[in-house]
Amino acid sequence: ALPYDLSGVRMVISAGGTREALDPVRYLGNHSSGKQGYALARAASQRGADVTLVSGATSNPGDPASVRIVNVDSAREMQREMSERAVDADVVIMAAAVADFRPVSVADAKIKKGDDGPAPIVLDTNPDILAGLVRDRTDGKIASDTVIVGFAAETGDEHGGVLDHGRAKLRRKGCDLLIVNAVGGGKAFGTEDNTGWVLSADGRETGLPFGSKTLMASRILDEVAQLVPDGRVH
Ligand code: C5P
Repeated sequence: ALPYDLSGVRMVISAGGTREALDPVRYLGNHSSGKQGYALARAASQRGADVTLVSGATSNPGDPASVRIVNVDSAREMQREMSERAVDADVVIMAAAVADFRPVSVADAKIKKGDDGPAPIVLDTNPDILAGLVRDRTDGKIASDTVIVGFAAETGDEHGGVLDHGRAKLRRKGCDLLIVNAVGGGKAFGTEDNTGWVLSADGRETGLPFGSKTLMASRILDEVAQLVPDGRVH
């Protein structure tokens, strides 16, 4: 029998939003539903890939069959799982919405209301997981032919800079593919549908049709499959 195009390809996909604890009962989070990352995991598994999903907080993304799920909370936890698991991966996809900041420390007890002034919350910058994975590849910690894919949510429209921002981000992050989504005005976050472009480090730019996150996932995987070295498909 002919193998599926991602047969035996080891994929690690992050999805959902990270939560950064403030105290025992509160966190800083975001509105990511996890649906696009889960759709990618489901579609990749159906095409024969061996998929691990590193999942932050989600809302009703639907459990994909035959996918290993690793639940994480914070960005630093997600980074640990992603960087360890990337060592044995052929493809790494960062579809998660990672918090850029975290509280400098987690209070032992519930933070009390003070007077009316500003809240006593000081933030530190979180590591950029995607950039770290690219660095690990450059440093030889992960194989040089590992495919690394990122996402970018940009406001505006095609002519209002979304594509320009995406091109600049692709160069800055150093990944092989960047999936660019236009967001704002109810687009992408938490919705069922999505659209955008797949920008490739080799200069190819593919428009994605407007449609379900499942359709988007299959188009994105078409692009990913082209980058996976032949020897990695079994
Ligand atoms: O720079 P920006 O946050 O727009 O980049 C988005 C991409 O970078 C996504 O693939 C996201 O998963 C990843 N990212 C990350 N670590 C961060 C912030 C974003 O890996 N701290």
